[in-house]
Amino acid sequence: MSRNAVKAFFGVLGLSTILTIGLMANAEPKSDAKRPDFKPVMDVHQQMECQGGLFKQVKEGLLDKKWRPAADAAWMLTELGNINQYQHEDAQYIKFAKAMSDDCATLAKALKKKDEAAAKEALKLVGQRCGDCHDQFKK
Ligand code: HEC
Repeated sequence: MSRNAVKAFFGVLGLSTILTIGLMANAEPKSDAKRPDFKPVMDVHQQMECQGGLFKQVKEGLLDKKWRPAADAAWMLTELGNINQYQHEDAQYIKFAKAMSDDCATLAKALKKKDEAAAKEALKLVGQRCGDCHDQFKK
């Protein structure tokens, strides 16, 4: 075989190897990593103590114009509201938890933008969301 033919041979061999490995990788089953069904680590009582602390942090951050920590606390509240949907089977509870989470996200975005008026408005709404659920579900 001429030099060029040898080169071409190995060139094609290399290319087809890459293609084969690529196809094999594609044919491999997707990662079988399994997550358990979502289950909060905290019970409602523990979660609510955190929510109380975070809500206070947001209020104080807003008053002191410490936007970043206030926004971070609001994001944590957003996620806790998200998690709270898994604390109860009642459809109304889940609705209240989702509404709180949504309004906390609005609050977090307003704080991030340092929009004081929008943040105050959103904070008021979040407070009402806490109250809505407490009126019905807090003994
Ligand atoms: C979807 C329902 C729901 C929402 C929304 C909610 N809570 Fe609660 N909260 C509860 C329940 C249920 C309890 C009673 C828990 C217990 O002690 O067993 C409670 C209790 C509390 C308590 C008393 C701590 C305790 O458990 O004794 C605090 C503080 C609290 N919540 C803060 C908040 C704040 C702040 C918000 C809003 C940012 C909020 N919660 C939103 C359901 C909710």
